Amino acid sequence: MTERRHDPDLRGFASDNYAGVHPEILDALAVANGGHQVSYGEDVYTESLQQVFKHHFGPAAHAYPVFNGTGANVVALQSMTERWDSVICAESAHINVDECGAPEKVAGLKLLTLPTPDGKLTPELVDRHAWGWGDEHRAQPRVVALTQSTELGTCYTPEEIAALCDQAHQHGMKVYLDGARLANAAATLGLPLKEFTTDVGVDVLSFGGTKNGMMLGEAIVVLNPDAARGVQFLRKAAMQLSSKMRFISVQFEALLGTDLWLRNATHANAMAQRLYAEVKDLPGLEVVRTPQANAVYAVLPAEVTERLQKRFRFYTWNEHTGEVRWMTSFDTTEADIDVFAAAIAEELQR
Ligand SMILES: Cc1ncc(COP(=O)(O)O)c(C=O)c1O
Repeated sequence: MTERRHDPDLRGFASDNYAGVHPEILDALAVANGGHQVSYGEDVYTESLQQVFKHHFGPAAHAYPVFNGTGANVVALQSMTERWDSVICAESAHINVDECGAPEKVAGLKLLTLPTPDGKLTPELVDRHAWGWGDEHRAQPRVVALTQSTELGTCYTPEEIAALCDQAHQHGMKVYLDGARLANAAATLGLPLKEFTTDVGVDVLSFGGTKNGMMLGEAIVVLNPDAARGVQFLRKAAMQLSSKMRFISVQFEALLGTDLWLRNATHANAMAQRLYAEVKDLPGLEVVRTPQANAVYAVLPAEVTERLQKRFRFYTWNEHTGEVRWMTSFDTTEADIDVFAAAIAEELQR
């Protein structure tokens, strides 16, 4: 019998991927267990998964389950580009700062980055890099990569995404959307997933399961079949093809085939709003951006951060400015927030 080596009631604010697995997902895994199923995605769960994704993203959508978000990003971008192409993205994009250079190393892509105050690209920003097609000296701008919700806890409106898609398409570029936290954006916007992705021109996206209550798994979702080539081959070559795929697919079915995805995201977002409400007016602390998803970013004195980090787990986001990130997840409780907010107030006063 395996011995439990952790405290199942201890939760922090470091990341939504510190959380465990939602019980409904664990139940679904048990349902999919037993017997033999054809491997590498030819199982009955992966087959029925396509309908689930089509329901959310439209009839042309096709989903490719993968192990993780970095893999989804790399494989998707590779499928959308030629070897001489480049990808325009925010400086703060996960593909730029948190993937150990995988898009450059594995996909061989040049990233053209742009500084943003809030993690969001705009057509004016994209214009700075959207030039030089046909010039053999320049990696050819081919994809505009957005993140929704962003790495800085903000959300694009459907109109903002539409404007970026229109601009990209006018230049013969495509739009990729890193949706590691797409569910959180849907909960904030109060819109069906399709309305700020497929309907406004996004070509390919990733849908994040891990941060939304799954044990593991993300999906590359091709919305425009003309925008991506060879996803299945690239997925295998990038070591992202799961042999026991039924266990990733059934988790997605439990998440997206019910309202679990939205319940989890709505709850995580509400916990971030609760934290924001409790700390925003504390003297000595500045909330950097109004939270629009499941994270609160704040600047506070380094010594306060140090003391708090001895009591609660969370990350310093920017060593230079003293900005920290507090992230909530589907299992964060109101009591967790209240205890944490009280501790922040206490440490600020010491
Ligand atoms: C915006 C974003 N994209 C992708 C990922 C997925 O990364 P991983 O490869 O850890 O699943 C993350 C994880 O933190 C993320 O925040």
